[in-house]
Amino acid sequence: MRVGIFGGGQLGMMLGEAAKKLGIACRCFDSSSDAPAKKVCELIVGSYDDEEAVRDFAEGMNVITYEFENVPTKAIEAVMKDHKVHPPLKALQTAQDRLHEKTLFQKLSIPTPLFADISSKEDLENAVKKIGLPCVLKTRRMGYDGKGQIVLKSNDEIEKAWGAMNNQALILEQFIPFDRELSILAVRTEGGTVSFYPLIENIHRNGILHKSTAPALNTKGPLTDQAQQAAMKIMSELLYVGVLTIEFFEKDGILIANEMAPRVHNSGHWSIEGAVTSQFENHLRAVTGMELGSIEITQPSVMFNIIGSVPDLSSIENNPHIFIHLYGKESRAGRKLGHVTMVSPSEELIARMERILE
Ligand SMILES: Nc1ncnc2c1ncn2[C@@H]1O[C@H](COP(=O)(O)OP(=O)(O)O)[C@@H](O)[C@H]1O
Ligand SMILES: [Mg+2]
Repeated sequence: MRVGIFGGGQLGMMLGEAAKKLGIACRCFDSSSDAPAKKVCELIVGSYDDEEAVRDFAEGMNVITYEFENVPTKAIEAVMKDHKVHPPLKALQTAQDRLHEKTLFQKLSIPTPLFADISSKEDLENAVKKIGLPCVLKTRRMGYDGKGQIVLKSNDEIEKAWGAMNNQALILEQFIPFDRELSILAVRTEGGTVSFYPLIENIHRNGILHKSTAPALNTKGPLTDQAQQAAMKIMSELLYVGVLTIEFFEKDGILIANEMAPRVHNSGHWSIEGAVTSQFENHLRAVTGMELGSIEITQPSVMFNIIGSVPDLSSIENNPHIFIHLYGKESRAGRKLGHVTMVSPSEELIARMERILE
C-alpha cells in the first residue's frame, strides 16, 4: 500500500512513522528540501503550482491525503482525476476559510461564536455594533497558531485593526470568555464506521498550543455528547474519511465550535504513547480502507509543545514516563520544534516540565 501526503512537516513525519508499523510506504510532497518528514518518507520537492510535479508525485499512490490545511485546492483537483483523495476536497475547502467553516457549523446547528463577513470598514463598524466588544478580527484564510488575529476591546481600536488587516478577506467573531478549550479527534472510515478519542483540554499561549491533557477532566456525559454529535454531523455531511479535529470553547457547560482541522492534529500527539492506536495510525487505517484500531486510552497523558528553541531536556531524558519528539527543524520564534508527552505524570513532573519550558 502506498500513500501520498501533501505536506512534509512534523505531522507528515509522524504519519510516516506510523506507516512503517503498518507496512505502508509514504511519499510526501513539500516545497522545502528540508521537510521533517524526509527522515521517514520519500520526499518529493516541488511547487504546488506545478501541476506536472504534483501529478508525478501522485503517480503510483493508492490514495492521497494531506497533513496541512493550506494545500492549494488546485493541487488536490489535479490528482483527484486519477486518485482517491481522503479527507474529501470539500472538507479542505471548508477548513481553509473561517467564514465557510462557521457557516457550516451554523447550518448543522453546531453552536459557534457570532460572526460576520467583513469586506469594508463600514462592515466592520456595523459588525462590532452587532456582535459587541470584545471581539476578534481574523483573516478568513491562511491563519494558524494565532497568526492573523486582532482582539478588539474598544471602538478606538477599529481604525488601527482595519488599517493593519484590510488587504485580506476578513471575519469578525464574538470573543468567548471561555472556561476551557477542548478538542475532539474523530476518525471515520469509507464505510462510515466512526471512533472518537476522548475530549482533550488545550492551553494556548500567544495563540499557539502549549499543553494538551488527555483525557480532559470532567467531560464524561453532556460535554462528550455535544462534541461527538458535532463531529458526527460534520463527518456525515462531508462523507468524511480520515481523522477530523474540532476545537471548542467550553462556556457554562456548552461547547462552542471554534474551528475544525481536516487532518491529524497537534492536540492528538499524546495518542502515540497514550492510546492503543495513535491518531496517525488511525488516519492511515481510515484512508487506506483498513479497519480502525482501538482508540482506548492506555494511560492519561499530558503533552507540551516545544516552541521557538529547544531547552535543556537532559534532566528528564531518562524518565520512563517521558517521550521526547524533536522534529529536526531550525529554531525560530513561535515555531513548533518538537513535543514532549508525559504518560501518567505526577503533578510534580508536570510542574517541572513547565519550569523547563520557561
Ligand atoms: N472568538 C474567540 N474567543 C476567544 N478566544 C479566541 C477566539 N478565537 C480565537 N481565540 C483564541 O486564539 C486561539 C487561536 O485561534 P484559532 O481560531 O484557533 O486560530 P488558529 O488557526 O490560529 O489556531 C484559540 O485557541 C483561542 O485561545
Ligand atoms: Mg486553533
